[in-house]
Amino acid sequence: MIFYFSGTGNSAWVARQLAEGQQEELLAISDEMGKEKCYELKEGEKVGFVFPVYAWGPPAIVLGFIHQLKMAVRPEYLFFVCTCGDDTGLTAHVFSAAIKKKGWQCACGYSVTMPNTYVSLPGFDVDEKDVEDRKVQNAKARVGFINGELTRRVRMKKFDCYEGGMPFSKTYLLRPLFNAFLMSPKPFHATDACIGCKKCEKVCPVHNITVADRPQWGGNCTHCLACYHICPTHAVQYGKATRTKGQYKRNF
Ligand SMILES: Cc1cc2nc3c(=O)[nH]c(=O)nc-3n(C[C@H](O)[C@H](O)[C@H](O)COP(=O)(O)O)c2cc1C
Repeated sequence: MIFYFSGTGNSAWVARQLAEGQQEELLAISDEMGKEKCYELKEGEKVGFVFPVYAWGPPAIVLGFIHQLKMAVRPEYLFFVCTCGDDTGLTAHVFSAAIKKKGWQCACGYSVTMPNTYVSLPGFDVDEKDVEDRKVQNAKARVGFINGELTRRVRMKKFDCYEGGMPFSKTYLLRPLFNAFLMSPKPFHATDACIGCKKCEKVCPVHNITVADRPQWGGNCTHCLACYHICPTHAVQYGKATRTKGQYKRNF
Protein backbone atom coordinates (compact mmCIF):
# COMPACT_ATOMS: atom_id res chain seq x y z
CA MET A 1 0.00 0.00 0.00
CA ILE A 2 1.51 3.29 -1.11
CA PHE A 3 -0.03 6.61 -0.07
CA TYR A 4 0.99 9.63 -2.09
CA PHE A 5 0.40 13.33 -2.35
CA SER A 6 1.39 15.34 -5.41
CA GLY A 7 0.58 18.83 -6.67
CA THR A 8 2.33 19.07 -10.02
CA GLY A 9 2.89 15.38 -10.76
CA ASN A 10 6.50 14.70 -9.75
CA SER A 11 5.63 12.67 -6.66
CA ALA A 12 2.74 10.97 -8.48
CA TRP A 13 5.21 9.83 -11.15
CA VAL A 14 7.59 8.42 -8.52
CA ALA A 15 4.71 6.81 -6.60
CA ARG A 16 3.39 5.06 -9.74
CA GLN A 17 6.77 3.49 -10.46
CA LEU A 18 7.20 2.33 -6.88
CA ALA A 19 3.69 0.87 -6.81
CA GLU A 20 4.46 -1.01 -10.01
CA GLY A 21 7.92 -2.13 -8.85
CA GLN A 22 6.67 -3.31 -5.46
CA GLN A 23 3.30 -4.60 -6.71
CA GLU A 24 1.58 -2.44 -4.13
CA GLU A 25 -1.75 -0.63 -4.26
CA LEU A 26 -1.55 3.14 -4.88
CA LEU A 27 -3.78 5.49 -2.90
CA ALA A 28 -3.99 9.30 -3.17
CA ILE A 29 -3.86 10.97 0.23
CA SER A 30 -6.18 13.71 -1.07
CA ASP A 31 -8.85 11.04 -1.78
CA GLU A 32 -8.30 9.08 1.44
CA MET A 33 -8.16 12.11 3.75
CA GLY A 34 -11.14 12.37 6.05
CA LYS A 35 -12.38 8.79 5.43
CA GLU A 36 -13.13 7.06 8.69
CA LYS A 37 -11.29 3.95 7.55
CA CYS A 38 -9.07 1.36 9.17
CA TYR A 39 -6.65 -0.03 6.57
CA GLU A 40 -6.13 -3.82 6.52
CA LEU A 41 -2.65 -5.09 5.63
CA LYS A 42 -1.84 -8.39 3.97
CA GLU A 43 1.00 -10.40 5.48
CA GLY A 44 4.33 -8.73 4.62
CA GLU A 45 2.61 -5.81 2.85
CA LYS A 46 4.79 -2.73 2.60
CA VAL A 47 3.44 0.68 3.55
CA GLY A 48 4.94 3.62 1.67
CA PHE A 49 4.48 7.38 1.64
CA VAL A 50 5.50 9.51 -1.34
CA PHE A 51 5.24 13.31 -1.19
CA PRO A 52 6.97 16.54 -2.22
CA VAL A 53 9.13 18.54 0.20
CA TYR A 54 7.45 21.83 1.18
CA ALA A 55 9.67 24.29 3.05
CA TRP A 56 12.10 21.57 4.15
CA GLY A 57 9.43 19.32 5.59
CA PRO A 58 6.51 17.10 4.62
CA PRO A 59 3.37 19.00 3.45
CA ALA A 60 0.82 19.65 6.22
CA ILE A 61 -1.73 17.43 4.41
CA VAL A 62 0.68 14.46 4.67
CA LEU A 63 1.30 15.00 8.39
CA GLY A 64 -2.44 15.49 8.96
CA PHE A 65 -3.17 12.25 7.13
CA ILE A 66 -0.62 10.29 9.18
CA HIS A 67 -2.13 11.73 12.35
CA GLN A 68 -5.60 10.38 11.45
CA LEU A 69 -4.40 7.13 9.81
CA LYS A 70 -5.60 3.85 11.33
CA MET A 71 -4.05 0.48 10.46
CA ALA A 72 -5.53 -2.84 11.57
CA VAL A 73 -2.02 -4.09 12.39
CA ARG A 74 1.35 -2.41 12.96
CA PRO A 75 3.09 -1.91 9.58
CA GLU A 76 5.99 -4.33 9.38
CA TYR A 77 7.91 -2.46 6.68
CA LEU A 78 7.22 1.26 6.30
CA PHE A 79 9.14 3.65 4.03
CA PHE A 80 8.98 7.13 2.56
CA VAL A 81 10.22 8.77 -0.63
CA CYS A 82 10.14 12.55 -0.89
CA THR A 83 10.71 14.57 -4.05
CA CYS A 84 12.46 17.94 -3.86
CA GLY A 85 13.68 20.63 -6.21
CA ASP A 86 16.93 21.24 -4.31
CA ASP A 87 17.25 19.95 -0.77
CA THR A 88 15.15 18.31 1.92
CA GLY A 89 16.53 19.85 5.14
CA LEU A 90 15.40 17.57 7.97
CA THR A 91 12.21 16.38 6.26
CA ALA A 92 13.18 12.81 7.24
CA HIS A 93 13.28 13.75 10.96
CA VAL A 94 9.87 15.39 10.83
CA PHE A 95 8.39 12.46 8.92
CA SER A 96 9.89 9.72 11.10
CA ALA A 97 8.87 11.59 14.28
CA ALA A 98 5.24 11.60 13.04
CA ILE A 99 5.51 7.86 12.36
CA LYS A 100 7.06 7.18 15.79
CA LYS A 101 4.21 9.06 17.42
CA LYS A 102 1.87 6.41 15.98
CA GLY A 103 3.99 3.70 17.63
CA TRP A 104 5.34 2.65 14.20
CA GLN A 105 8.84 2.64 12.78
CA CYS A 106 10.20 3.97 9.52
CA ALA A 107 12.54 1.36 7.96
CA CYS A 108 14.00 3.55 5.24
CA GLY A 109 13.59 6.87 3.45
CA TYR A 110 14.90 8.49 0.28
CA SER A 111 14.79 11.77 -1.58
CA VAL A 112 14.55 12.13 -5.35
CA THR A 113 15.62 15.45 -6.88
CA MET A 114 13.05 16.57 -9.46
CA PRO A 115 12.25 19.79 -11.35
CA ASN A 116 11.50 22.66 -8.97
CA THR A 117 7.94 23.94 -8.75
CA TYR A 118 8.24 26.65 -6.07
CA VAL A 119 7.90 30.17 -7.50
CA SER A 120 5.99 32.20 -4.91
CA LEU A 121 8.90 34.13 -3.42
CA PRO A 122 11.39 36.47 -5.08
CA GLY A 123 14.50 34.54 -6.10
CA PHE A 124 12.67 31.23 -6.69
CA ASP A 125 11.79 30.10 -10.19
CA VAL A 126 11.37 26.94 -12.25
CA ASP A 127 14.52 25.30 -13.58
CA GLU A 128 16.06 26.02 -16.97
CA LYS A 129 15.08 23.37 -19.54
CA ASP A 130 18.50 21.63 -19.51
CA VAL A 131 18.50 21.43 -15.69
CA GLU A 132 14.95 20.07 -15.75
CA ASP A 133 15.86 17.40 -18.33
CA ARG A 134 18.96 16.37 -16.37
CA LYS A 135 16.98 16.08 -13.13
CA VAL A 136 14.37 13.88 -14.82
CA GLN A 137 17.04 11.61 -16.32
CA ASN A 138 18.78 11.23 -12.95
CA ALA A 139 15.46 10.68 -11.21
CA LYS A 140 14.66 7.72 -13.48
CA ALA A 141 17.86 5.96 -12.35
CA ARG A 142 17.29 7.00 -8.73
CA VAL A 143 13.77 5.53 -8.65
CA GLY A 144 15.12 2.29 -10.16
CA PHE A 145 17.70 2.16 -7.35
CA ILE A 146 15.04 2.79 -4.69
CA ASN A 147 12.81 0.07 -6.14
CA GLY A 148 15.74 -2.36 -5.80
CA GLU A 149 16.32 -1.34 -2.17
CA LEU A 150 12.63 -1.72 -1.29
CA THR A 151 12.50 -5.15 -2.90
CA ARG A 152 15.39 -6.18 -0.62
CA ARG A 153 13.52 -4.63 2.35
CA VAL A 154 16.49 -2.50 3.31
CA ARG A 155 16.50 -1.03 6.81
CA MET A 156 18.68 2.01 7.47
CA LYS A 157 19.90 4.00 10.47
CA LYS A 158 20.35 7.26 8.56
CA PHE A 159 17.86 8.09 5.81
CA ASP A 160 19.14 8.59 2.28
CA CYS A 161 18.00 12.19 1.70
CA TYR A 162 19.89 15.15 0.26
CA GLU A 163 19.63 17.51 3.27
CA GLY A 164 21.62 20.43 1.82
CA GLY A 165 23.32 23.10 3.96
CA MET A 166 22.06 24.25 7.38
CA PRO A 167 19.29 21.62 7.48
CA PHE A 168 18.36 22.23 11.11
CA SER A 169 17.83 25.98 10.62
CA LYS A 170 15.85 25.42 7.44
CA THR A 171 13.48 22.86 8.95
CA TYR A 172 13.14 24.08 12.51
CA LEU A 173 13.57 27.87 12.14
CA LEU A 174 12.55 28.86 8.59
CA ARG A 175 9.83 26.24 8.02
CA PRO A 176 7.52 27.44 10.84
CA LEU A 177 7.82 31.03 9.54
CA PHE A 178 7.20 29.88 6.00
CA ASN A 179 4.11 27.90 7.06
CA ALA A 180 2.77 30.81 9.14
CA PHE A 181 3.26 33.62 6.62
CA LEU A 182 3.80 32.28 3.11
CA MET A 183 1.24 29.51 2.58
CA SER A 184 -1.97 31.57 2.62
CA PRO A 185 -4.28 31.07 -0.40
CA LYS A 186 -5.41 34.75 -0.20
CA PRO A 187 -2.85 36.14 -2.71
CA PHE A 188 -4.02 33.69 -5.43
CA HIS A 189 -6.00 35.43 -8.17
CA ALA A 190 -6.58 35.25 -11.92
CA THR A 191 -5.78 38.16 -14.23
CA ASP A 192 -7.75 39.34 -17.29
CA ALA A 193 -5.85 36.70 -19.28
CA CYS A 194 -8.14 34.05 -17.69
CA ILE A 195 -10.23 32.24 -20.31
CA GLY A 196 -12.36 30.33 -17.78
CA CYS A 197 -11.11 26.93 -18.98
CA LYS A 198 -11.40 25.42 -15.46
CA LYS A 199 -8.10 23.55 -15.75
CA CYS A 200 -7.11 25.00 -12.35
CA GLU A 201 -10.37 23.74 -10.83
CA LYS A 202 -9.83 20.24 -12.24
CA VAL A 203 -6.16 19.92 -11.24
CA CYS A 204 -6.52 21.08 -7.61
CA PRO A 205 -5.89 17.92 -5.57
CA VAL A 206 -8.01 19.15 -2.66
CA HIS A 207 -10.87 20.64 -4.74
CA ASN A 208 -10.26 24.10 -3.31
CA ILE A 209 -10.96 26.04 -6.53
CA THR A 210 -14.30 26.85 -8.10
CA VAL A 211 -14.60 28.65 -11.42
CA ALA A 212 -17.78 30.53 -12.19
CA ASP A 213 -16.48 33.39 -14.30
CA ARG A 214 -13.02 33.48 -12.74
CA PRO A 215 -11.39 31.02 -10.30
CA GLN A 216 -12.04 31.51 -6.61
CA TRP A 217 -9.77 29.90 -3.99
CA GLY A 218 -11.22 28.53 -0.75
CA GLY A 219 -9.34 28.20 2.53
CA ASN A 220 -8.29 24.55 2.14
CA CYS A 221 -5.13 25.18 0.08
CA THR A 222 -1.95 23.09 0.23
CA HIS A 223 -0.01 25.68 -1.83
CA CYS A 224 0.98 22.92 -4.25
CA LEU A 225 0.87 25.46 -7.14
CA ALA A 226 -0.78 22.99 -9.53
CA CYS A 227 -3.28 25.75 -10.45
CA TYR A 228 -0.45 28.18 -11.26
CA HIS A 229 1.58 25.78 -13.39
CA ILE A 230 -1.32 24.34 -15.40
CA CYS A 231 -2.86 27.67 -16.44
CA PRO A 232 -2.60 27.86 -20.28
CA THR A 233 -2.54 31.68 -20.28
CA HIS A 234 -0.41 32.31 -17.14
CA ALA A 235 -3.44 34.07 -15.68
CA VAL A 236 -3.14 32.44 -12.25
CA GLN A 237 -0.86 34.54 -10.08
CA TYR A 238 0.27 34.60 -6.45
CA GLY A 239 0.26 38.27 -5.43
CA LYS A 240 2.83 40.04 -7.55
CA ALA A 241 5.53 37.43 -6.99
CA THR A 242 4.79 35.14 -9.95
CA ARG A 243 4.23 37.63 -12.80
CA THR A 244 7.63 37.08 -14.36
CA LYS A 245 8.09 33.45 -13.30
CA GLY A 246 8.09 30.36 -15.49
CA GLN A 247 5.61 27.50 -15.43
CA TYR A 248 6.51 23.85 -15.01
CA LYS A 249 5.07 21.72 -17.80
CA ARG A 250 5.95 18.12 -17.03
CA ASN A 251 7.53 16.43 -20.02
CA PHE A 252 7.67 12.77 -18.92
C1 LIG B 1 5.12 25.22 -1.38
C2 LIG B 1 6.34 24.55 -1.92
C3 LIG B 1 7.48 24.46 -1.14
C4 LIG B 1 8.63 23.82 -1.62
N1 LIG B 1 9.72 23.70 -0.80
C5 LIG B 1 10.80 23.04 -1.22
C6 LIG B 1 11.93 22.85 -0.36
O1 LIG B 1 11.95 23.23 0.79
N2 LIG B 1 13.02 22.21 -0.86
C7 LIG B 1 13.06 21.74 -2.15
O2 LIG B 1 14.09 21.21 -2.56
N3 LIG B 1 11.99 21.87 -2.98
C8 LIG B 1 10.87 22.50 -2.54
N4 LIG B 1 9.78 22.63 -3.37
C9 LIG B 1 9.81 21.96 -4.70
C10 LIG B 1 9.07 20.64 -4.69
O3 LIG B 1 9.35 19.90 -3.53
C11 LIG B 1 9.45 19.76 -5.89
O4 LIG B 1 9.42 20.46 -7.08
C12 LIG B 1 8.53 18.54 -5.94
O5 LIG B 1 9.10 17.57 -6.79
C13 LIG B 1 7.12 18.85 -6.41
O6 LIG B 1 6.38 17.66 -6.32
P1 LIG B 1 4.94 17.45 -6.94
O7 LIG B 1 5.09 17.71 -8.44
O8 LIG B 1 4.61 16.04 -6.66
O9 LIG B 1 4.00 18.40 -6.31
C14 LIG B 1 8.63 23.26 -2.93
C15 LIG B 1 7.48 23.36 -3.72
C16 LIG B 1 6.35 24.00 -3.24
C17 LIG B 1 5.12 24.07 -4.12
